[in-house]
Amino acid sequence: MHRLDIATYFTRPEGSGDRPDRLTDDDLRSLYGYPVGLDRPWVRVNFVSSLDGAVTVDGASAGLGTPADKRVFGLLRELADAIVVGAGTARGENYGGARTSDARAARRRSAGLAAVPPIVVVSASGRLDPASRLFTDTTVPPVILTSERADPAHLARLRDAGGDVEVAATDDVSAAALLAVLQRRGLRRVLCEGGPGLFGTLIAEDAVDELCLTAAPLLVAGPAGRIAGSARTDPVPMTRAHVLGDDDGTLLTRWVRAGAE
Ligand SMILES: NC(=O)c1ccc[n+]([C@@H]2O[C@H](COP(=O)([O-])OP(=O)(O)OC[C@H]3O[C@@H](n4cnc5c(N)ncnc54)[C@H](OP(=O)(O)O)[C@@H]3O)[C@@H](O)[C@H]2O)c1
Repeated sequence: MHRLDIATYFTRPEGSGDRPDRLTDDDLRSLYGYPVGLDRPWVRVNFVSSLDGAVTVDGASAGLGTPADKRVFGLLRELADAIVVGAGTARGENYGGARTSDARAARRRSAGLAAVPPIVVVSASGRLDPASRLFTDTTVPPVILTSERADPAHLARLRDAGGDVEVAATDDVSAAALLAVLQRRGLRRVLCEGGPGLFGTLIAEDAVDELCLTAAPLLVAGPAGRIAGSARTDPVPMTRAHVLGDDDGTLLTRWVRAGAE
């Protein structure tokens, strides 16, 4: 066992002089900064799970979110060129476009990012509702990466609803195909918000550069799945970049693929 000497407290209660300072948003931007000068998409995956590995409570991730997790969730969006999700997550969590503020948009522009990151939905079936928030509650068009399996008439409806639809595969979209599209579009600071199916594809193709994983201080049990699933088992060694703790027990961890940086 080793002392976790890179652990950093997220907040510091009054009078606890033995702890490091409370982290500011700028501290967090620095802790979660993407590598500079990227010449390829860097895939960051962000998840929250319970201590017993549940990825949902009553079918949604909201029951796992803590104040620290929500703060980092928003900050990771601020740092990203694109937010990538599987269609199961977009449908199940009723995804809309990323929200922003004038200050956040200004910070993004000064960092060389577009004011608002698009949501990129990966869906082999293309079965997304053109009346859903994905299309109706956004300031930038959602990108729909789909396959030849999708019904062309339905894809036309998604385009009519404002979707930027791209057929990127004959069936499932491989990680390589996803990364090729992101690279062509100049979207290199990638934030994948899941879900477990898409994360499984990315792991299986060794396409995950880092995982930001929040452990929420909860035991959940129940039928919930875990954060990744795929047909094969593909161990990928990861190195610990940082561990942050909040006073409510939340642990925020960042793991980088060995040799990725
Ligand atoms: N705790 C968390 O941090 C967190 C994060 C995200 C999601 N979740 C939870 O996870 C659950 C969703 O799980 P899920 O496994 O269904 O998630 P998912 O990976 O978001 O969705 C699976 C669906 O996404 C599409 N998809 C994924 N990978 C694909 C690929 N390589 N090529 C083409 N299409 C692909 C397919 O959609 P089509 O069927 O349209 O082809 C597939 O059926 C929800 O309950 C959500 O709340 C939790």
